[in-house]
Amino acid sequence: MLEEQLKKVIRDIPDFPQPGIVFKDITPILKDQMLCKEIVREFERHLEGVKLDAIAGIESRGFLFGMMLANQLDVPFVPIRKQGKLPFKTISESYKLEYGQATIEIHEDAFEAGKNILIHDDLLATGGTVVAASKLIEKLGGNIVGYSFVISLDFLQSHGRLTRFSDNIVSLVH
Ligand code: PRP
Ligand code: ADE
Repeated sequence: MLEEQLKKVIRDIPDFPQPGIVFKDITPILKDQMLCKEIVREFERHLEGVKLDAIAGIESRGFLFGMMLANQLDVPFVPIRKQGKLPFKTISESYKLEYGQATIEIHEDAFEAGKNILIHDDLLATGGTVVAASKLIEKLGGNIVGYSFVISLDFLQSHGRLTRFSDNIVSLVH
């Protein structure tokens, strides 16, 4: 089963980047290209029947599988980046992280209003990042059709923060 396979390779790093956080290191997954393909196929299976026009991935780890999935599904990829990284006109949202504070941005011409957007990130923790990303998508007139995560830290109970945008939430590892 894919979830068991992933649990074996995801590496727990205690007290990174600060004391009390157990960091889920996905870099060992990236060393296994067959496992990466299987992750993309699994997301594809979950998204069967969902009409989507683009995938928005969140810097930086959300770019990894977000871009692979967009390519597999033959739809555009929209980068949502940390403040000051996108070169064209942007809109911004600030949010709290499990370990700090951040601002993310999207290009104002990233997609046309009315498009169906899937938001992808590697990991759902407090949900602050994807809530901020969801607000960016909605500000541009996008219709959020779901979320995909490789990992969901269920003990933080953040699914509830996303259901006001979409209840189509896929996580491969809980
Ligand atoms: C991590 C992770 C998610 C976010 C989840 O990103 O990749 O984007 O935190 O946390 P949340 O649900 O509490 O908001 P990070 O900001 O560490 O950046 P990185 O992907 O560039 O490492
Ligand atoms: N982003 C937020 N919390 C995280 C964690 N515990 N591991 C990896 N990435 C994270």
